[in-house]
Amino acid sequence: MPIPLPSPRTYRVKSFGCQMNAYDGERMTELLDAQGLSPAPEGDEADLVVLNTCHIRERAAEKVYSDIGRIVKDWGRQDGSAPLIAVAGCVAQAEGDEIMARAPAVRMVVGPQAYHRLPEMLARAAKGERVTDTDMPAIPKFDTLPQRRRTGATAFLTVQEGCDKFCTYCVVPYTRGAEVSRPYAALMEEARRLVGSGAREITLLGQNVNAWAGDNDAGNPIGLDGLIRDLAKLPDLARIRYTTSHPTDMTDGLIAAHGEVEMLMPFLHLPVQSGSDRILAAMNRSHTVDSYLKLLDRVRAARPDIALSGDFIVGFPGESDEDFAATVALIDAVGYAQAFSFKYSPRPGTPAATMPDQIAPEVMDERLQRLQAAVNRGQYAFNQASLGRRCQVLVERHGKLPGQWLGKSPWLQSVHFFGEVAIGDLVTVDLTEAGANSLKGVLAPSAQGGPGPA
Ligand code: SAH
Ligand code: SF4
Ligand code: F3S
Repeated sequence: MPIPLPSPRTYRVKSFGCQMNAYDGERMTELLDAQGLSPAPEGDEADLVVLNTCHIRERAAEKVYSDIGRIVKDWGRQDGSAPLIAVAGCVAQAEGDEIMARAPAVRMVVGPQAYHRLPEMLARAAKGERVTDTDMPAIPKFDTLPQRRRTGATAFLTVQEGCDKFCTYCVVPYTRGAEVSRPYAALMEEARRLVGSGAREITLLGQNVNAWAGDNDAGNPIGLDGLIRDLAKLPDLARIRYTTSHPTDMTDGLIAAHGEVEMLMPFLHLPVQSGSDRILAAMNRSHTVDSYLKLLDRVRAARPDIALSGDFIVGFPGESDEDFAATVALIDAVGYAQAFSFKYSPRPGTPAATMPDQIAPEVMDERLQRLQAAVNRGQYAFNQASLGRRCQVLVERHGKLPGQWLGKSPWLQSVHFFGEVAIGDLVTVDLTEAGANSLKGVLAPSAQGGPGPA
């Protein structure tokens, strides 16, 4: 057994799973920087590796063990030392003890609500201890993390964590705990810092982001729409997005904001999971197909060009051919601009894992293919319908070809184009070609090089 390095100098944080994990990964990076560690150069071994894991489906959870195995095998050092491995994120929370038992190379296990304590854990691990911290402490981690310091043109901002919905298939209420909203003042401050370091677009994150609630500076209770309206006043911020929303928490105020706040982008990720009421009830989703469609009508009335996105699960226990056909019909009826689809994965400890009539893997495979074909049809049609539009594109990075750039349209489509621009510019682009996954555009003549209006 190699000896773990006592005092790491370089680190690598590898995040899996949702955008909230990506956000946590950034914050861990900032925390390690503040401890005097530096990021390992690309391709180099790191002294400390943090695997920021996801537990949502079986395959995601298994990945952590194969990653640990690979790190240990590839990174055996000549002096007999090994990198310090820390497992963070939702697998750490759900299976911390099991990880420690199964993977002796792991020195630290830290849950998503405890990672602000990484420095103390590192100090103990350096003395040879194996340390687990999967507490969900009452003092929020955000109060003790270092301030935000770096960002590109777009930035994530976690405003809400946890979930009280208890969909019968899902681990999130167990790995992330109960719904908690971060305080208004802390969020406004973090947003100001992100904008100050270059963010033009902020995506507000939460497992149920639209359940966010807080008191503004005047002490008045507000919801996510109120927070969005106040963020929209920040100078130099150009765009606001939010994800992921639950249909139940889609308030009138938030719907109205889509029609009234110009900086709020016309995009809504609103997972429905299934097009069958019977399955939705078994999932404990608290909405029906009809209530979901009526909700979409109201959103579209407020913002007619809104792009819709969703999540779908195929092969939930008991799903019949008719249930599945209803899901495909719903996809065709809504016309999603994009959507994520997953095979049902039984998660230990969730009610659905022990429900009767689990669906055979080959049936799931076939359904997933058909569902994805429906999603792709819708996505292609949505992109085709964008042709001829002139819109603002936020430049995010260089494209693959020399002189090419990649940015996002207001409807979250990837747009490739050429021109004299810089990352962070908002430019006016005419959309000229559309594929299933991205579009091509041409810079509008007057927009060359300028930031353009929001
Ligand atoms: N809080 C968000 C996202 C939760 S996880 C929401 O409710 O929409 C993201 C997606 O993973 C879910 O929307 C669901 O489609 C999928 N998912 C969750 N648990 C799953 C499971 N056990 N098997 C397959 N897909 C799952
Ligand atoms: Fe999971 Fe449902 Fe909560 Fe989303 S709303 S995180 S799917 S329990
Ligand atoms: Fe995965 Fe945890 Fe996010 S289980 S999807 S990383 S909340």
